[in-house]
Amino acid sequence: MIPIARPMISDDEIQAVTAVLKSGMLAQSKVVEEFENAFADYVGVRNAIAVSNGTVSLDIALKAIGIKPGDEVIVPSFTFIATANAVLFQGAKPVFADVDERTFNINPNDVLEKVSDKTKAIIAVHLFGHPFDVYAIQEICEDNNLYLIEDCAQAHGAEYEGTKVGGFGIAGCFSFYATKNMTTGEGGMITTNSDEIAKVCRLLRSHGEGQKYQHQMLGYNYRMTDIQAAIGVVQLKKLDDFNEARINNAEYFDEHLKVSGLTLPYKKKGVKHVYHQYAVTIEEEKGFPISRDDFMGYLKDKGIGCAIHYPLPIHKQPLYRRMGYTEENTKCPVATALSGKILSLPVHPALAEEDLIYITETINNIR
Ligand SMILES: Cc1ncc(COP(=O)(O)O)c(C=O)c1O
Repeated sequence: MIPIARPMISDDEIQAVTAVLKSGMLAQSKVVEEFENAFADYVGVRNAIAVSNGTVSLDIALKAIGIKPGDEVIVPSFTFIATANAVLFQGAKPVFADVDERTFNINPNDVLEKVSDKTKAIIAVHLFGHPFDVYAIQEICEDNNLYLIEDCAQAHGAEYEGTKVGGFGIAGCFSFYATKNMTTGEGGMITTNSDEIAKVCRLLRSHGEGQKYQHQMLGYNYRMTDIQAAIGVVQLKKLDDFNEARINNAEYFDEHLKVSGLTLPYKKKGVKHVYHQYAVTIEEEKGFPISRDDFMGYLKDKGIGCAIHYPLPIHKQPLYRRMGYTEENTKCPVATALSGKILSLPVHPALAEEDLIYITETINNIR
């Protein structure tokens, strides 16, 4: 079976973890600090704060900018649920914006429709590794006095107009979950150029503790371990190579996949797309020979992993339906339509040339 994702772990990571295990310092210590410094340098920001996963990176970032009950935060409806749930954790209201049909990213025109006098921030997601329309979203934030948080969980190393994502807003939030472009097993990072926000994030991460047993605010235990950080330090050095392999794989598919009704990923001028997912759309109305479900069954029978990211837009998730979100009051028709036709194919760096050829021929031979 060719899996939809595969972490790239080799002896380097194993040795780094072994060294930490032998050191006797297992929790957050010097290796976390080393990882934070290397990550800040890589992204090109003043501060990076390592945490236990990507979800809490969003939680802490929203708390640090002061989001509270009564506030609204605009998020795309087409993303992983953590983006919106982070707003709920503050007791605030996620307001869903629709996405662009081609990039699948938050649509600035729809964001403008959804800004109200309660809006305090926008969380925009660089979905599947393709940067969102940063300048347009930044402009909306400036005009309306809103904070911008970048959800970079799927976009380590992606670039917008030559600059790496993670430093365009007040905070960038990364995930190092096992299937991401780089991993620490589980893990997360907040990037920020604001020393003040960085300070609050560090306090929130560890029980509001400034000095040992001096607790200045209500915080959590959201710390990363040195074991995770050791993997992160090694993975970060390999990230550009991993991304290059993903890009090469995507370019192979772009050139060779040819079936009517199958639309390949769009890449906007001026961006570096790092293909966390290679997401195609399948449309029988446009001539694709079988339904998406049957196509998934066909790929499975042929030993090719695939996945739907995401089968429901967030406003249609049971949790959100129960809270009163409906298609009518949310108005995100593009997100809803996309969830019915999107499909991710394997694009990870572990694919061999024969995998690319096999995947392409299997898909092109669909009848
Ligand atoms: C867009 C997006 N945001 C947030 C997260 C949350 O990250 P984590 O799974 O590390 O909590 C993910 C991870 O799957 C994600 O894809």
